[in-house]
Amino acid sequence: MGRTFTRVPLANLPVPASNLPLDSGQPLGGRPHHPALESAAGRRVTLVRLATGDAGLLRVLDRAGRVVGRNIPLLIQGESGVGKELLAQACHNSGPRADGPFVALNCAAIPESLIEAELFGYVGGAFTGARREGAVGRIQQADGGTLFLDEIGDMSLSMQARLLRVLQERCVVPVGAREAVPVDIALVSATHRMLNESVKNGLFREDLYYRINGLTVHLPPLRVRTDIRVIVGQLVAAECAGQPCDGVSVSDEVMRFFEAYAWPGNIRQLQNVLRVALALLDDDERVILPQHLPEEIFDAEAVPVFVTPRAGGEPRRMLSAPSRPRGRPPLGLDESLIQQALAEHGGNVSAAARALGIARNTLYRKLGRNF
Ligand SMILES: Nc1ncnc2c1ncn2[C@@H]1O[C@H](COP(=O)(O)OP(=O)(O)OP(=O)(O)O)[C@@H](O)[C@H]1O
Ligand SMILES: [Mg+2]
Repeated sequence: MGRTFTRVPLANLPVPASNLPLDSGQPLGGRPHHPALESAAGRRVTLVRLATGDAGLLRVLDRAGRVVGRNIPLLIQGESGVGKELLAQACHNSGPRADGPFVALNCAAIPESLIEAELFGYVGGAFTGARREGAVGRIQQADGGTLFLDEIGDMSLSMQARLLRVLQERCVVPVGAREAVPVDIALVSATHRMLNESVKNGLFREDLYYRINGLTVHLPPLRVRTDIRVIVGQLVAAECAGQPCDGVSVSDEVMRFFEAYAWPGNIRQLQNVLRVALALLDDDERVILPQHLPEEIFDAEAVPVFVTPRAGGEPRRMLSAPSRPRGRPPLGLDESLIQQALAEHGGNVSAAARALGIARNTLYRKLGRNF
């Protein structure tokens, strides 16, 4: 690898109060990077960059950072959209293999008939339809780097058996080849399933479970994280970099709705909500307001898809939602209220919207008109 790598626990690092997009390539919070991670930083996501101020997350990052580069397989668990793949990449970029390949394999998406060829590769003419020059399998592609096995909990039992052999022997035999090819890979796996339950139910091999699970970390769902404001800042900055919306901010009111919402789709859902809100801004609007949000954000009772076992803290939906903007009716407006406002303003939609405290476009939407 030709590069030295010394690990210092993340817990010893100052927590950056960063508002930078993840790929800005600048030190977080204006502070120098942790030297061991800095070398791998560049414009890529690293463990340090993921530390946005939530104590539970910081513990996860610290534990993950301790096994990076030590030949200990890491298993990342967490709900959909919490950032499992991003964490896997951060681990790779933060360790001694950062200059090597990071190969992600979605175990749920490979058809049974293609597993062998996809994982192990094949030599030319190995089977009908094979490329003449053969193909290098995904595992071999990860040689010298990290193999990320995504959705490992959805892997078929026959694929589990094949993978187990590779992990035991640390070599692959391409389809049609005589010789085994040694592979040097760091292994990171992720799943939204509770794998120990799958083992109990006979859906996941116990021997493979212990092979992939040197250390398990649980990424916290967004609703228990305390750093949502920092994440929002990062996402908006990343969405708007070099775009006309550069410099757009998020109102405090919106932030309080975000803090009260349960986010069943976690950071991916937040990213989508912000993307849509930015698209709804008029040219002269520089602040994201409640009227730019989809209605479900105001539903503090939204039920998460599932609650991660051992997730620290109360789900956010249990906390009290912010009161609605003073003097403003709820956005799930009663039809009669709308009609009354329109009648009072002689059918003038802009004036009625002002009176109702909502954007003109929102009122048009509620009236079912194009705008
Ligand atoms: N800390 C973060 N800051 C900014 N964006 C993030 C962060 N974590 C995740 N994201 C973004 O959220 C989205 C979901 O992240 P990712 O794909 O890593 O989640 P996942 O847990 O693997 O989801 P799934 O279970 O659905 O595969 C991605 O677009 C990712 O870039
Ligand atoms: Mg994923």
